[in-house]
Amino acid sequence: MSIRRLPEQLVNRIAAGEVVERPASALKELVENAIDAGASRIAIGLANGGLDRLEVSDEGCAMGPDEMQLALERHATSKLPDDHIEHVSTLGFRGEALPSIASVSRLTLSSRPRGAEGWAIVVDNGFEEAGRPAALPNGTSVLVEDLFARVPARRKFLRTARAEYAACVDVIRRLAMARPDIGFTIDHDGKRRLTIAAGESRAARVAALLDRSLTESSVAIETGRGEVRLSGIAGLATFNRGVADHQFLFVNSRPVKDRLLIGALRGAYRGLLAKDRHPVVALFLELPGEDVDVNVHPAKTEVRFRDPSLIRSLIVGGVRAALDGAGPRVLVNEAPPFEAWQRPALSSAREQAAFYEAPPLARAEAAEPVGAGSAYPLGVARGQVAGTYVIAEAEDGLIIVDQHAAHERLVMERMRGAREGHEVATQRLLLGEVVELDEAACDVLEAGAPELHQMGLEVERFGTSAVFVRSVPAMLGHPDVAALVRDVADELKTFDAGLSLSERIDHVSATMACHGSVRAGRILSVAEMNALLREMEATPRSGQCNHGRPTWVKLAHGDLEKLFGRK
Ligand SMILES: Nc1ncnc2c1ncn2[C@@H]1O[C@H](COP(=O)(O)OP(=O)(O)O)[C@@H](O)[C@H]1O
Ligand SMILES: [Mg+2]
Repeated sequence: MSIRRLPEQLVNRIAAGEVVERPASALKELVENAIDAGASRIAIGLANGGLDRLEVSDEGCAMGPDEMQLALERHATSKLPDDHIEHVSTLGFRGEALPSIASVSRLTLSSRPRGAEGWAIVVDNGFEEAGRPAALPNGTSVLVEDLFARVPARRKFLRTARAEYAACVDVIRRLAMARPDIGFTIDHDGKRRLTIAAGESRAARVAALLDRSLTESSVAIETGRGEVRLSGIAGLATFNRGVADHQFLFVNSRPVKDRLLIGALRGAYRGLLAKDRHPVVALFLELPGEDVDVNVHPAKTEVRFRDPSLIRSLIVGGVRAALDGAGPRVLVNEAPPFEAWQRPALSSAREQAAFYEAPPLARAEAAEPVGAGSAYPLGVARGQVAGTYVIAEAEDGLIIVDQHAAHERLVMERMRGAREGHEVATQRLLLGEVVELDEAACDVLEAGAPELHQMGLEVERFGTSAVFVRSVPAMLGHPDVAALVRDVADELKTFDAGLSLSERIDHVSATMACHGSVRAGRILSVAEMNALLREMEATPRSGQCNHGRPTWVKLAHGDLEKLFGRK
């Protein structure tokens, strides 16, 4: 076996494996460079989700021809002037991005410092062509064409252009959130898709990038300990989402996806959210450079803190305190969500008074005795407990039904029927409803519209960043239409191309089912309870909810006798 030093092109390509996973990761590196160059405006141009072309132009400090040459070499950076990596205040510092991207694409670097001529260098899949003068405005532009054209193994793992475009927008959104002083534009396939004006407040920018309704449904966070500061906004528990990708975390203005931070966030919302729901937050952590190591991940998305427990407790405590302060707002919703009803239990009634009075939720209904030989295995409704459980009497015992879980299962099964060609009854919205969403969400809804129609949800594109909802599945009752559509879009985005059509329908119907209006917390009439029981009897697989928990349990007469020591 002979050991050899690898040629430079190969070394760069190996590095590219870590840094450039998909168009969005190349875009992230280029935009970070533009930010580091002091640009106040950054223009992004994409074609075919960034697969065919991506270009980032800025009017930052720019480079002369010699510097450009150096910038394309590995481990060449202007960002570590004194060899102290802990003092790094820029987004970049590894000196790897440009040569890595250039090794797996055709890269054109053009730059023109103020008062100097412009220059352009092309690197074609690792091989540099001769530089030439170029006419361009002050600043730098990096054009990346045919990414991975010569790396078929990598190209194979890419998703659809639509999904890659969505990932690109997500990258820009994260970077833009941290820097409201910088303006951004995104063009895709020749059309202006997003304009983010410079100079907004951070709260305004976060709301503009995430969801405008967040302004009313969130609390501001402003806290700190020692030299560590935590600020940002946290969505109220009721403003939750079905996927975890609406959590934006920043350390010293660097977007990160750090496990410690995500865990702390989960801790902050513990008990406020159902297990499968996630909060919407944008949190900014500021701390001295020597207290955090940013050099633990090639894409610089993970960090390591010197004092992790301090950071954790700051987040859990800070977010929790802000949410608790907003307590009563959680209850203004007409249909109180699942989590709201759990709150008295968690605000530890023994020590302190609960911050609001829990309304009386239990009641009982008298009804005819159940005759022998009753045809109803799940019995007749006798009442409801905690606004959540239906109590029924069957011929041979007591039945307890989790109404929300049971209803979810029924909806899910009927949606399944839709796939086999049965029609799902729809309920037309009187005026229709316009729901504002980000562009990627609108794109997936538009693409999925025929499938969704089959399931009773009629949506149409309404401009770049909104959809018009015409009807919802009738069996959902009166759902919160905006929340329903948002969750369905999330679901479609997450599973975009990875799953078969029927699997996607399953996921989407489960998501829709969660929005049925027979939620926990709703008081049902006896007629409604009995209708629920009859439908459960008639529906296959109704014994388990979509999350695998039982939808009903039975205490047989024998069990009751045992409980009371009669047997
Ligand atoms: N848009 C830009 N404007 C000015 N200089 C740039 C730009 N992009 C890259 N550079 C220069 O090229 C160098 C190398 O870039 P890169 O490979 O991304 O490594 P890093 O950002 O880690 O330093 C940077 O340190 C910077 O000096
Ligand atoms: Mg860089």
